[in-house]
Parts: sequence; C-alpha cells; structure tokens
Amino acid sequence: MNTDTSIPQYCDRRNTKSLKFDGMLPLFGRDDLEPFWVADMDFCTPDFVVDAIQARLSHKVFAYPVVDNSFFDTVSLWFSKRFEVDIKNEWIIPMTGVAASMFTAILAFSDENDSVVVQPPVYGPFFSVVKSAKRELVENPLIIGSRGYEIDFDGLEEIFCSKRPKILLFCSPHNPVGRVWGEDELKRVALLCVKYGVLIVSDEIHFDLVFAPKKHNTLLGIDEIKNNLILLSAPTKTFNIPGLNISYALIPNRVHKKRFEILAKNLHQSLPNIFGLEALRACYEGGDAWLESTLEYLFENRKLVDVFVADNCFVNGFSPEGTYLYWIDFAQTGFTPSEISEKLRGAGLALSGGDFFFGGRETSFFRFNFATKKERVEWALKRVKETFDF
Ligand SMILES: Cc1ncc(COP(=O)(O)O)c(C=O)c1O
Repeated sequence: MNTDTSIPQYCDRRNTKSLKFDGMLPLFGRDDLEPFWVADMDFCTPDFVVDAIQARLSHKVFAYPVVDNSFFDTVSLWFSKRFEVDIKNEWIIPMTGVAASMFTAILAFSDENDSVVVQPPVYGPFFSVVKSAKRELVENPLIIGSRGYEIDFDGLEEIFCSKRPKILLFCSPHNPVGRVWGEDELKRVALLCVKYGVLIVSDEIHFDLVFAPKKHNTLLGIDEIKNNLILLSAPTKTFNIPGLNISYALIPNRVHKKRFEILAKNLHQSLPNIFGLEALRACYEGGDAWLESTLEYLFENRKLVDVFVADNCFVNGFSPEGTYLYWIDFAQTGFTPSEISEKLRGAGLALSGGDFFFGGRETSFFRFNFATKKERVEWALKRVKETFDF
C-alpha cells in the first residue's frame, strides 16, 4: 500500500455498506458483479478529511450544527484559487445535496406546467426532478460535432422561442459525455438565456475533475448571466465524500437568492450534515495536492480506455475532457441494448445503463466509471474484449 497520503489510495469497498459494491442487487439482479457504475471513486477519503472529521467526533455531541463564516470563506477561497473567480459570501447557500437543490430551484422559479429544458444524454435526476415537480420536460438533445458532443444551439433557440421555458437545467462539465464546455459555448448559452429570460440552473458538481489542458470555466465568470444564474456545486465528487451530504448553491441575484433560500429552509434542505461541514472546510483549505495527484491517476486510467476504444471497432467512445466517466457505445457489436446489458453482466461487469441518461429510453450506450485502481480497469476492459470480440 502506498503510504504517501497525498496520493489516492485504493480501498476494497466490498462489505462496507457501499451503494456501488453492496447495493447492486436491485439494479442488476445480482450482487456478485464487479461494479463500474455509480459516480463515486474507489479511493479512501484523504487523511486531511478524516482528521477533520475525527476532531469533530471527539466532541461527542452531534446535535444540530451551525454554519459559520468559515463555510462561506472556504467556498469563496476555492473559487478564487481554482477558477480565479471572486464570489461574495452573501451569494452562498449551504445545501444538503445538488439534486435536492435542482428540485428546490425548479419549485422556486417555475410553476406547474411551465417548461424546463434538459439536454440529454444527461444525469438521470435532471429528468426526474422536472417530472416530480409536474413541470413540462422539454429535451434539446446534444448533437455530435467536431468537438464530440456539442450543444444544439439552433434547437435551443427554437425551444426558447416556441416553448418560452422558465429554466434550462445545465450540466457543466457534462455527465455522462464528459464535455468541459468551452468559454465560447458557455457564452452562447448564457446570451441565449439572457435574450429569452430563461434562468440557468448550472450543475457544476464535476468542476474540479477536469483533465489538462482543458480548464473548467464556471458560468459565474460570465458577467452577462450573473443575474439569471443558480450555480450548484459541492466538494463531494472531487474528494469522494458524497455520503456526507454537503453542497451549496451560489446565487448572485439578491431576489432570487432570497426566494431560493426561503424554499430551501422550508424543505429542510439547507442544513448540511455536521461532518460534511468539517469535511468541506478541510477539502477546500488543504485539498489541492491530493486533487492534483488524483487527477493524474485518473488521467492514466482514462488513457487505458482511450486506447481500448481506439483499438476495438466494436465500441465507440467519447474520451471525457472531465469527470471519471467514459460514455461508450456498443452499437457496433450488433446486439440489442438488452443483449448488451445481459452480456456485460455475464462477463461479471456492472456498468451504468445508458437509459438512465435518456429518461428511460433504450440505448446501446453504457457509462464506465474508471475511478478505481488501474488493475481493475485493465481487468474490466479485458472482460469486455473477451465478451464482444470474437
Ligand atoms: C451531474 C450530477 N449532479 C448531481 C449529482 C448528485 O449530487 P448530490 O449527491 O449532491 O445530490 C451527481 C451524482 O452523480 C451528478 O453526476
């Protein structure tokens, strides 16, 4: 085992009550598969986070916490060090989770039957939060162009014109296709939203997981959109702590902020977990080195999948510019989506089915999570080859 604590340490998660390893049965009908599905990592929580939690544990009282200024200061610090963007503490609202914040934003800024736009393929809850809130779900699918997956700007404008939606639910970087949107693309989206008075709810939860030379551009850096923007993010993907229920919303528009904050309080979503608060501070104060080495590790794993995709014509893949998720098309195998799914299980593999990202529609795409030790990635790719390359 590597003893350098600034380097990600692989951790055997089976029988640790983890969703990825121990919670497969309902989704895959089996619990003996090797999982490469849900978006968390197989690396231990870094020591500086464990130490911060341990210090809090020593209080021996885990009653309601208070969110003090250190929370706001460290979120601001992270935005200035990572993205060179100055944010004001008064824009920040602590929240339990990003999906809960999406739902809160939809309830706060639209009414029943109003339209909300999503751009599939996209993280499943983008669909479910709109439907649960009884808003009209309008899809503007991503298209494939010279940069890989791209935003269909003509389609978006056409929808803005004809449907007059209240909200665009935006994913940046985009899960599952791994695009890190360029400044030009973000600006175009922002200007369209301003032109048609559409509020952008920008889910930037994957914003730290970006491979050089790409850089994440936060929508907060685009002045024109500041008044129309609800930005949602968290340290949970970056530092592998989604079980700690900690996130935040950033809302520069004072009126919007107040409205969101009142609803979040009424829904009891704005008081994060006591250990999550400690973890966020530790991550944002001291997590830079660990993040850099984790990105290097993930980059090497991504290369393994890149080579696999390039060498094997039965798969087609989109190398992610960000996230640790690889969006792979198995259409060229000639099998139907359910046959592909069956065969992957038969090979002992649990990948995320692409239907989750298309609102339940069948597809030959599957998402492969490569945030694990290199040997597991190699093993999984070997199993895929043995299964489909005959
Ligand atoms: C794009 C995106 N948004 C939100 C979430 C979930 O965030 P939370 O656990 O804070 O609700 C995920 C988790 O995979 C995600 O990929």
